[in-house]
Amino acid sequence: MRLDKFLAESSIGRRKIVRTYIKEGMVKVNGEVITEPAIEIKESSDIIEYLDKVVAYTGKVYYMFNKPAGCITARKDTVNKTVFDFFDNVNMNGVFHVGRLDKDTEGLLLLTNDGEFEHQLMYPQKHVEKTYFFWALGSLEEEDRKQLEQGIYIGKGEILTKPAKIEVQKCGMYKDFKHEIPIDTLYNIDSKHYNQPVVSGYLTISEGRKHQVKRMLKAVGCYVVYLKRVSIGELMLDESLEKGQYRFLTEMEIQKLLGECDQVKINIRNILTI
Ligand code: URA
Repeated sequence: MRLDKFLAESSIGRRKIVRTYIKEGMVKVNGEVITEPAIEIKESSDIIEYLDKVVAYTGKVYYMFNKPAGCITARKDTVNKTVFDFFDNVNMNGVFHVGRLDKDTEGLLLLTNDGEFEHQLMYPQKHVEKTYFFWALGSLEEEDRKQLEQGIYIGKGEILTKPAKIEVQKCGMYKDFKHEIPIDTLYNIDSKHYNQPVVSGYLTISEGRKHQVKRMLKAVGCYVVYLKRVSIGELMLDESLEKGQYRFLTEMEIQKLLGECDQVKINIRNILTI
């Protein structure tokens, strides 16, 4: 296996970063400084050191995380908690989030140290569907649903959104549903909204534009007050995970996700069987 791959798959950092570590002389193979990232090593017998500490090979890791509202999808933030803060005592150095959820969005977020996996899921041409459950102030008439399904303009200078799927679940007055809507303090909802219409449902999109679901619904007059990603492709959020909890993806889940892209075959280690 290549030295840079070994280090990336041992949670030292992304491939690009570990290459610079190697070139800068921070890595030794069997006691000797090596500055060539492409060198082949034997992960079972060679001793690899990074900054003079022996590196244990972890392999590729794939986490399913149930993101709570209120935390940022980023590695570091000076003000807010980040999704990485939920991975206490786990070496997350080379691990990154696959796509992003807004601060106030909950639900399914994947994290991995496998760049190819990220690419397969995020590359727009792969059209991997993501489904979101929402509550919004407003109502969705037949015409609005058609527009969401066929494509809609959500911002100046932007092209039409790709066809989406919309399934309305509940609609009525806010006062009748207020106990069902998990409104976060982030949203400014009070008694003046009691007689406003509300609607809940599922919106499935295959793109990943910024705030896309909120902007699509806004374009048909709906103001999102709760948003949760429930699935990516065939992978559903494991509802047994409490908010803020995570688990490894199973090998079957990984293959299923990749199968939806391009039938990529990968060697998976470090996968828990559940
Ligand atoms: N669309 C949004 O508006 N927000 C998210 O977090 C994800 C999709």
